[in-house]
Amino acid sequence: MLILGIESSCDETGVALYRGDGGDGGELLAHALHSQVAMHEDYGGVVPELASRDHIRRLIPLLRQVLADGRCALAEIDAVAYTQGPGLAGALLVGAAFAEALATALGVPTVPVHHLEGHLLSPLLSRRPPRFPFVALLVSGGHSQLMRVAGVGQYELLGETLDDAAGEAFDKTAKLLGLGYPGGPALAELAERGRRDEVQLPRPMLKSGDLDFSFSGLKTAVLTRVRELPTISDQQRADIARGFQDAVVDVLVGKSLRAVALSGLRQLVVAGGVGANRELRRQLDAAASRAGIVVFYPELEFCTDNGAMIALAGALRLQAGLAGKPAGAFAVRPRWPLTGS
Ligand code: KG4
Ligand code: ZN
Repeated sequence: MLILGIESSCDETGVALYRGDGGDGGELLAHALHSQVAMHEDYGGVVPELASRDHIRRLIPLLRQVLADGRCALAEIDAVAYTQGPGLAGALLVGAAFAEALATALGVPTVPVHHLEGHLLSPLLSRRPPRFPFVALLVSGGHSQLMRVAGVGQYELLGETLDDAAGEAFDKTAKLLGLGYPGGPALAELAERGRRDEVQLPRPMLKSGDLDFSFSGLKTAVLTRVRELPTISDQQRADIARGFQDAVVDVLVGKSLRAVALSGLRQLVVAGGVGANRELRRQLDAAASRAGIVVFYPELEFCTDNGAMIALAGALRLQAGLAGKPAGAFAVRPRWPLTGS
């Protein structure tokens, strides 16, 4: 079963071909990505209209590329999976319209996929995949959630952020420190040069007793620190970045380990863009090995948005007998909770 996956929910156009074998031994044949970061950089954030127009420009060349790389013909595609939401409405519409039109022309079904389900399942693309059930820490630009994943389509929300997502907090704090867009990776790089404990920031909700998060106060704490300083040196900036990153990492590690302990499971999966953060990986690995837990990460290229995770989620949904539909009519879901929908 050959599945084409299309991702266009925000500022990355991703296309991929995944061959499912009906079991858990499928194979990613090819994937291609175009990031719009350079285009949005001048504006300090994603401009939705520009994002939509760029997805239109990129989809056909990326499709041609994956067909060539995967040595497949269009006619071999058995189903087209695409991100139905959540995300930017216009950007989602481009991917959805493209996928539905192509599937109609090919006479194959479509599989509308939840973007977060793609992230949740992305560690299954690794050479050493986790097995169901596992706990997932999903930390992206729009979401911070802890989930219990019992199988494909079986997700239980354990906790989530009450305000900003972890990636959003990274991006907003980066902006405060005068770093470019997207700020997360730049802030993480700066933090590597900062000194530990030079800037102490709160660990929001670490001891709240539940599995929820709150990150918006940290950004305000950083703003207060910056305002206290008459001028700011490169070292001070790095120390603040380090203080911020350490606080976020402490909270994410503490809550994730608690979620795993409460669930009685031994596997933790980390997904979403913030999962690329090196310090988070270092601290999680250390804490997990003390607790006898195994942590799984997607390959770095599959941490941030990509088409491969959508193709995979589409293949696994079809294999599980879920949610393929005849190509044609469609609607996108810019706001869409993963659980309870
Ligand atoms: O999963 P993703 O690509 O898109 C969403 O679905 O939101 O995540 C993007 C987020 C951005 O907020 C970005 O700043 C953050 O992930 N991010 C990082 C790192 N790499 C990406 N945050 C911290 N450290 C990183 N190394
Ligand atoms: Zn994402």
